[in-house]
Amino acid sequence: MDTLGLLVLGSGVAGLSAAVRAADVHHMRVGVLTKGELQQSTTRWAQGGVAAVLGGDPDSTDLHLADTLTAGAGLCDLEAVRVLVDEGPARVNELIAMGAMFDQDERGEYLLAREGGHSHARILHAGGAATGVEVERALVEAVKKSAAVLLERTFALDLVVDAGRCVGVRALDEHGERIEVRARNVLMATGGGGQLYAVTTNPLEATGDGMAMALRVDAAVADVEFVQFHPTALHHSSMPRPLLSEALRGHGALLRGANGEQFVDELQPRDIVSRAICAQLQADGSDHVWLDATVLDSFDHRFPTIRTALDKVGLDPATDWLPVAPAAHYCCGGVVGDLDGASSMPGLWVAGEVACNGVHGANRLASNSLLDGMVFGPRVVEAIDAGKDSADATGAMRCVLGSHDGAGVPGRRIEPVPIDADTTSGDGGDTAAERDRFQRMMFADAGVLRDHSSLASAIDDAVEVAHRPVSDVASAELRNLATLGAAVVTAAQLRTETRGAHTRTDHPEADDDLAVRLVITGD
Ligand code: FAD
Ligand code: SIN
Repeated sequence: MDTLGLLVLGSGVAGLSAAVRAADVHHMRVGVLTKGELQQSTTRWAQGGVAAVLGGDPDSTDLHLADTLTAGAGLCDLEAVRVLVDEGPARVNELIAMGAMFDQDERGEYLLAREGGHSHARILHAGGAATGVEVERALVEAVKKSAAVLLERTFALDLVVDAGRCVGVRALDEHGERIEVRARNVLMATGGGGQLYAVTTNPLEATGDGMAMALRVDAAVADVEFVQFHPTALHHSSMPRPLLSEALRGHGALLRGANGEQFVDELQPRDIVSRAICAQLQADGSDHVWLDATVLDSFDHRFPTIRTALDKVGLDPATDWLPVAPAAHYCCGGVVGDLDGASSMPGLWVAGEVACNGVHGANRLASNSLLDGMVFGPRVVEAIDAGKDSADATGAMRCVLGSHDGAGVPGRRIEPVPIDADTTSGDGGDTAAERDRFQRMMFADAGVLRDHSSLASAIDDAVEVAHRPVSDVASAELRNLATLGAAVVTAAQLRTETRGAHTRTDHPEADDDLAVRLVITGD
């Protein structure tokens, strides 16, 4: 295969937005490598929508910026958020021009929803709460027309590094054969790692592969302790948990404890609502609270896909209160990138949930993730086209390279947990059973609520699992989950405070000295 100009790892909103721009606008030779079918991604599961201010008064990009900063609990990078809210509307309009259809009223005006932490209704949605399906559909159609190479069912195992530069990936192809794919630039857009936890909204493929690959080559990774738990996943045994979109609360659904009383302002940012639910669970001695959507009119019309999901488990939102509990949902941290997605390793770029570019801080604002991918994926392409080749001290990268003007969130380097990079083959036993056990351990010991002793017991377990032999995709995913898990636990141990999505029951307050990014990097 001829060397590619850009190899994109992953086919969610971030990777595909970049691939389409690189091929269509800049005529790069682009390859997309993805571990499932092209449309397989967390993006496809997105419900509530895309937050973007398409019109003016009374809403504004300044208000979107302010809401994002408030939700981020002191760790957002102001410049990165400015980029997100200012460039977002144009990227959304490009997606619409590509064919994505968002819900409109009978006059053709976009219907806008409100979600937790947003001061205004500014969230575009499609199919009620099936926004991800539409976003992914439009992008997959576009990339099929433009990318030179599409490698589906191909699992990226590790980055290929030559003289300190990322030059490609080693992968397992669809027949299980080891291959190497080379490119001048590699964009990692492999999404998050919600599968770290036994209770999650994330699909099975969200195994933190990109972050683990980055950790193995010592690319800087930060903010990983901030795993966001969505407050209202349906309390049910299925994996992943069916999500009951925050848009339901935006439309007036209420949270109630065991006795039916309301216990929290439902439209606060997610970290606050999830913490309040955990306190209520303890007070009630229960494993769920109630989401009361009986007050909503036209539920079936506004949220048809959620209605279908509820039908399947025998619940009627018109009459039944819906049992809910927090579930792992989003990785706020990841591989550190500057404002153009350049990582600390030349040749390696990052965008989307795998990245830590500074827009989400300690807690992502609802519906800012699809927007993040749409904005920062294409920025990588623009930077490569302009000749950029290494990171500068902008966005979250300030935590690695330092800040010349004192702006941005400073970094504090933490040691990586030693995990051998070399993979040995061999029989690791029952991988599925071990994954299940590990996920339960992480949920119990490093979940919504953590403390010193729970984290201390989690770390050895994670390191041991990360050393299991790798022989196929399942065992490689488990190694990646454990590698990411070890990083999450290490950072969570050192963050002796409660901030955003990170709650330490033994340190219930925020600590000003910890208004820093904890950065894991080898050297
Ligand atoms: P993804 O969409 O996860 O794509 C990653 C891609 O990388 C996938 O194609 C995957 O198969 C591939 N990949 C991963 N590892 C490898 C590997 N080793 N080799 C090859 N390929 C690999 N956000 C919002 O903004 N609004 C919402 O309404 C919303 N609702 C959500 C609802 C649910 C149920 C969930 C789970 C999340 C929701 N989110 C929402 C979050 C949002 O969907 C994700 O954060 C976002 O889609 C991530 O996009 P991405 O492109 O970074 O990654
Ligand atoms: C939801 O619809 O509640 C999910 C939105 C998000 O994760 O941004």
